[in-house]
Amino acid sequence: RERKRKEGVNLLELAASFFRERLKMPEGEAARAYLDKRGLSPEVVRDFGIGFAPAEWEAMRRHLGERGISEAVQIEYGLLVHREDSGRTYDRFRDRVMFPIRDIRGRTVAFGGRVLGDAKPKYLNSPETPVFHKGRELYGLYEARQANARLDRLVIVEGYMDVVALAQFGIRNAVATLGTATTEDHLSRLFRVVDEVVFCFDGDQAGRQAADRALRTALPMMIDGRQARFLFLPEGEDPDTLVRREGAKAFEDRVTCASPLSEFLFEQASQGRDLARIEDRERYASQVLEAIGLLPEGVLKSLLLTELSRRTGVDQSSFESLMKHHGEAES
Ligand code: UTP
Ligand code: MN
Ligand code: MN
Ligand code: MN
Ligand code: MN
Repeated sequence: RERKRKEGVNLLELAASFFRERLKMPEGEAARAYLDKRGLSPEVVRDFGIGFAPAEWEAMRRHLGERGISEAVQIEYGLLVHREDSGRTYDRFRDRVMFPIRDIRGRTVAFGGRVLGDAKPKYLNSPETPVFHKGRELYGLYEARQANARLDRLVIVEGYMDVVALAQFGIRNAVATLGTATTEDHLSRLFRVVDEVVFCFDGDQAGRQAADRALRTALPMMIDGRQARFLFLPEGEDPDTLVRREGAKAFEDRVTCASPLSEFLFEQASQGRDLARIEDRERYASQVLEAIGLLPEGVLKSLLLTELSRRTGVDQSSFESLMKHHGEAES
């Protein structure tokens, strides 16, 4: 198993340096111009190991083949695609800016590739392979640890470009999930490194939904001493566009002012409800209570129950017995 891992990682390192080399060559001109247009300096491009996959069908296959790597292995690690119907085998990544995804030790385990224009799909990612599980890796975590002798908090954003753009502005503590929802695996990885995470999703419907899901994923993990906060961006913005428009200081200020989990929890439950009405207040209380039920036993849980009772005028002991009943019904 470990030998397998080494074989895969070596192959992916070869692929990563191939992409980096191609970015420097004349054929990488359009990709360099694209990165420049997006405001990325050669230093940040280098720190993140960004490269370019040429617009060819078998450049990678030839490159790796000459180095003795079989097609079967190239397919297994997601660099080649084999189509059963046509019997053809060809490079997965073509004519894209390439972002290597590195594990915590800096080994390349996968790639994300962005088109230069607006073809679809905008981003193409490596498939699940023996060394890559989307629900576990975080883009930028290795780079964040490299850039900071000490890390207090990590900001979780949606995209590759968000991580890299923030780094360009000197904000070197952002990580991105890879086109999936934040999982428990992601969070336990992050909480091994820092005690505080700040969720920062795009200012759109999808981003708000992602925040709701992230809250539910985070709740059971909120053991004492850990913190999660939620940052909502203005409509239509993502961290990349926002940091460019407002600069690093303003973005840092937003991070500093992000809502603590406790506030977001009440805020979210009050959305679209008129708390002057009893029925709305009942649904509000149920929703908050359900969320509180997901928390591990601890001070935060008691404090939130007290706060819910203050906000609804219902006795805390009623909530406690209600929650006990819910717990019993579920188990
Ligand atoms: P976005 O569409 O918000 O991408 O998707 P972005 O990072 O802002 O892209 P730019 O600024 O146009 O370059 C967020 C993330 O979702 C995943 C990628 O990880 C992307 O960074 N995604 C998105 C995909 O995997 N495939 C896609 O086709 C689109
Ligand atoms: Mn898997
Ligand atoms: Mn979005
Ligand atoms: Mn985005
Ligand atoms: Mn973007």
